[in-house]
Amino acid sequence: MSFRLQPTPPARPNRCQLFGPGSNTKLFAKMAASDADVINLDLEDSVSPTDKDTARANVIDAIGAHDWGNKTLSVRINSLDTPFWYRDVVDLLEQASDRLDIIMIPKVGNAADVYAVDALVTAIEAAKGRTKKIGFEVIIESAAGLVNVNAIAASSPRMQAMSLGAADYAASMGMQTTGIGGTQDNYYMLHDGARHYSDPWHWAQTAIVAACRTHGILPVDGPFGDFSDDDGYRAQARRSATLGMVGKWAIHPRQIALANEVFTPSDAAVAEAREILAAMEDAKAKGEGATVYKGRLVDIASIKQAEVIVKQSEMIAGR
Ligand code: COA
Ligand code: MG
Repeated sequence: MSFRLQPTPPARPNRCQLFGPGSNTKLFAKMAASDADVINLDLEDSVSPTDKDTARANVIDAIGAHDWGNKTLSVRINSLDTPFWYRDVVDLLEQASDRLDIIMIPKVGNAADVYAVDALVTAIEAAKGRTKKIGFEVIIESAAGLVNVNAIAASSPRMQAMSLGAADYAASMGMQTTGIGGTQDNYYMLHDGARHYSDPWHWAQTAIVAACRTHGILPVDGPFGDFSDDDGYRAQARRSATLGMVGKWAIHPRQIALANEVFTPSDAAVAEAREILAAMEDAKAKGEGATVYKGRLVDIASIKQAEVIVKQSEMIAGR
């Protein structure tokens, strides 16, 4: 335990982050009209190297041209091992309207990566008199990123969120799969001859959640590639929600409703959480720290667990 209180993450819904390539301008209006909480206009890996300049100009134009409602608006820049990223930052900060909320930095491997972008952003904000400070979100998608995840989470006061990028992570780790998230055919235990599938993303997700919760930022599950597999998406998202993640990416519009469904606490879960809180109020009135709810122990820790669900539900309802 620590005498320091765990910092609170940004109080905004982040159930679904919808991505679209910056080169595909016909998607922008559809993204703006969608039910995603966060929009990620992409300059990185969904844009071919020959299209980088056009995509950047498209995105800068789109930020001011569309009505993004109360969504969080983020642009994914190119990674620091490319010749593109500095121009992404300079042009976005010099030319994009104030509607831009966040820059997403991909393939972050250590805290110095974030520091470098922070230095550039801070200088341009001052030079241009931008009063609204840009936030950061990062993708953990390499062995180095995961090894340094705690330092990355602590790297800048601009940090708001952190996602697991399953595809690049798998490649960096040398994992034998071409799947983007989800169940992997060869990751199983045998018991009495039956295969029991396990979760190869579990360690990375849990490490990200712990780093994020320690530093008051939002842990997010990344893409699920097979957008025709709704049940597979739901199963992955439910595991992530159970581990403490607040949302998941959508790389196709049909995944938006799935993410919103999984990451919005259900009415039944909220009702049960409120009953637990009421049971603990009764216990407190009797001078007891523990009581029985539906045949199981609830105590003062149960109040905190129930509050996670109730607060998440209230925050989403009030967005
Ligand atoms: N955002 C909003 N709308 C989208 C969309 C997106 N990301 N992707 C597709 N749509 C729209 C299509 O324009 C189409 O609209 P219409 O019914 O008005 O014609 C509808 O949803 C159905 O699209 P569909 O034909 O099933 O898909 P597609 O073949 O056009 O596109 C992808 C498939 C995967 C190429 C596309 O969804 C995409 O580019 N996704 C984002 C990829 C990305 O950003 N990756 C980086 C992060 S991993
Ligand atoms: Mg990636």
